[in-house]
Amino acid sequence: MGFEITIEKTQNSRIGQFDPKNIGFGKIFTDHMFLAHWNGNEWTNARIVPYGPLSLSPATSAIHYGQSIFEGMKAFADKKTGQPILFRPRENWKRLNRSAERMVMPVVPEELFMDGLKSLIQLDAEWVPKTEGGSLYIRPYMFATDDFIGVKPSETYTFAIFCCPVGPYYTKALKIKVEEEFSRAAPGGVGFTKCAGNYGAAMYPTLRAQQEGYDQVLWTDPLTHTLVEETGTTNLFAVFHNEVITPKMGNTLLAGITRDSVIQGLRELGHSVIERELSVRELKDRLEAGELKEIFITGTAATLIRIQGFGHAGHYHEVLEQGDSSVSDGVKNWLDGIRLGETEDIFNWNERV
Ligand code: COI
Repeated sequence: MGFEITIEKTQNSRIGQFDPKNIGFGKIFTDHMFLAHWNGNEWTNARIVPYGPLSLSPATSAIHYGQSIFEGMKAFADKKTGQPILFRPRENWKRLNRSAERMVMPVVPEELFMDGLKSLIQLDAEWVPKTEGGSLYIRPYMFATDDFIGVKPSETYTFAIFCCPVGPYYTKALKIKVEEEFSRAAPGGVGFTKCAGNYGAAMYPTLRAQQEGYDQVLWTDPLTHTLVEETGTTNLFAVFHNEVITPKMGNTLLAGITRDSVIQGLRELGHSVIERELSVRELKDRLEAGELKEIFITGTAATLIRIQGFGHAGHYHEVLEQGDSSVSDGVKNWLDGIRLGETEDIFNWNERV
């Protein structure tokens, strides 16, 4: 099955206004976007058009009942050739469809996802930053478009992709607050999906944490609030002397693609990585015993960033000061080497456009 993608190029490219030395995160959008329509039966009208507003009915189902899912992925400029490299895009395609299934939304065929993505990146290739730390952040997403306000799965959907040239999401080590009152996800819920509501529901606890001087929330298990899960935007790793621990996946955590890449990278570099339950108690005890070398977090937008310290039950625990960054630096360099085409892509993660 092939999808015909029509292309309408912009007559007014904004590339001249783009300053690759001053990018920030998420405020600049490239010239084009990809759109396709699910008509209740099949994907139709696959097209690339100039980036711009979408026209929606006030009754658009996604706005009211939240059938809205997304992905975050990146393209990098090959250090030698400048050519765009997509990093593990098919993992994002698979995760989008896991979210779609849980939210009763249509599956996006691999060909539609990949052809739309590659055509868009080809057209906007000039927007992929070549500056240190820069990349093209890509946002594939799908939302329900029926104009109907009864509660039921929508019959129609839009699948779209747009892109933003970005610099680092976080520019310094973070202070995180261990969350003991609010929960991000519950067993049997939608925590493993990348649905919009997971992020909306996190905003109040995150705001509270920020008002207390923290950058982010560290979510814990919803039943006991004693086991570490993930932060509002990333997965988490704790580095001890002879092992690296990351919370094991369950249906309350988002299966990070950067998390998976970092686990594989750490193992390549000779570290022992264990996916298991990690309690706040263990973090505190082993920090006190001098065994905790560092905590770092991983995500597509955040990449890999260290944790300055964490707050728990009204007390702040500094981690960075007594730590050592050799493990996180090592795996970050390993990952950057692959993503920028500088070192051998041993796992075949890169797809060149
Ligand atoms: C990503 O890392 O791609 C995400 O979706 C997280 C979001 C906070 C930007």
